[in-house]
Amino acid sequence: MTRSKQSRTTTVRVGSAVMICIFTLLLGCEKQTANAPILIKFPHVTAPATPKGQAAERFKRIVEERLAGRVTVEVYPSAQLMSDDDSLDALAFGEVQMIAISLSKLDRLTHKFQIFDLPFLFPDLQAVEKFQASNYGQELLTSMVDRKILGLSFWHNGMKQFSGPVPMRTPEAAKGLKFRIMESDVLQAQILQIGGNPQKMAFGEVYQALQTGAVDAQENTWSNIYSSKFYEVQAFVTETNHGYLGYLVAVNPDFWNSLPDDIRSELAAIIREVSVWANDQSASIDLAGKEKIIASGQTEVVELTPEEKIGWQQAMRPVWEKFSDSIGADVIEAAAGAGK
Ligand code: LMR
Repeated sequence: MTRSKQSRTTTVRVGSAVMICIFTLLLGCEKQTANAPILIKFPHVTAPATPKGQAAERFKRIVEERLAGRVTVEVYPSAQLMSDDDSLDALAFGEVQMIAISLSKLDRLTHKFQIFDLPFLFPDLQAVEKFQASNYGQELLTSMVDRKILGLSFWHNGMKQFSGPVPMRTPEAAKGLKFRIMESDVLQAQILQIGGNPQKMAFGEVYQALQTGAVDAQENTWSNIYSSKFYEVQAFVTETNHGYLGYLVAVNPDFWNSLPDDIRSELAAIIREVSVWANDQSASIDLAGKEKIIASGQTEVVELTPEEKIGWQQAMRPVWEKFSDSIGADVIEAAAGAGK
C-alpha cells in the first residue's frame, strides 16, 4: 500500500470511529433527554413582587411539587431574558414555552383584544372578569393559535393611573406632555384624545425614559409604579382608574399538544388554580403598592372628586367611537354591560 493510500485509509477509519462516537453520544443524549424533566421557560417583564410575578412564582412552586422530576419551570422576571415584544416571537418559535403578556401588546397581532384598552369601559376588575368569562372572552383564548399562541387563562394586574410632572385633575393638564404607552393603537388614540404626545416603549425602558425626561408621564397600575420605582422620578400620581391592565397567559400550542396527556391535564388544572388565586390577590397587591408609594413621601398621590372623574370619562369617550368598527359595536356594548 502506498503511503498516501495508507493515510487515506487511516483517515477513513478515524472518521468512522468519530462518527460512531458522536452517534453513541447523541443516542445517550436522547435517552437522557427522554428522562429529563420537561422544561417550561417563562419570561415576563414585571418585578417578582407584582401580581404577575407572584402568580408566576406560585405556578412554578406548585408544578415542581405536583410534577416533581417531570416538569421544571424557569421563571425570568423583570425583562431579564427578553422584552414582551420579543417574547411573542420566542413563544412562536418555541424558544420559550409560556408567557403572561399584557393584552394591550397583542395589538400588533390582532385587533381582537383592543376592547380591553378602551378607557373607562370596565369600572372594576369584577366587570373585566365577567366579560372574560363570556363566550367572546373565552373565544379570545384560541384566537391566535395560527400565530402559535394558545391562551390558557387571563390574569389581572389592576386599573391604571397616570403619573407625571403635574397633578392631572383634568384632562387639560395632560396637554403637550409626552406619555410612554404600551404598544397599542387604542392607547395611542387615548393619549392623542387628551392632547398628549404618545410614545410606544418597552416596559424595561420606562424608568430611564422618565428619569432622563425622554418622556414626561406614563400610565400604569399601582403595583407596577411601585415595584418599578416610577414614583421616584414622577412628582405626581393621579388616581384615575381609567383603564385595565391584565395578561394573557399563553403557551406554544405545538409544545402544549406534544405533552403527555396526564402532564397536560395536571398543568391545565394548576393554571386554573393559580389563576383563581392570582385574580383574588391582584387588588390587594395593587393597593399595597399605592400605600407604599404614599408612605415613601417621594411623590404626591392625587385622588379625583366624582366630578373630576366624570370630566375624564367625557374627554376620553370619543375613543370608543374611533374603534367601534375595528372592535365591533356589539362587543363594546357587551363589555360595557358587564360593568352594570
Ligand atoms: C407595561 O408595559 O406597562 C406593562 O405591560 C407591564 C406589565 O407586564 O405589567
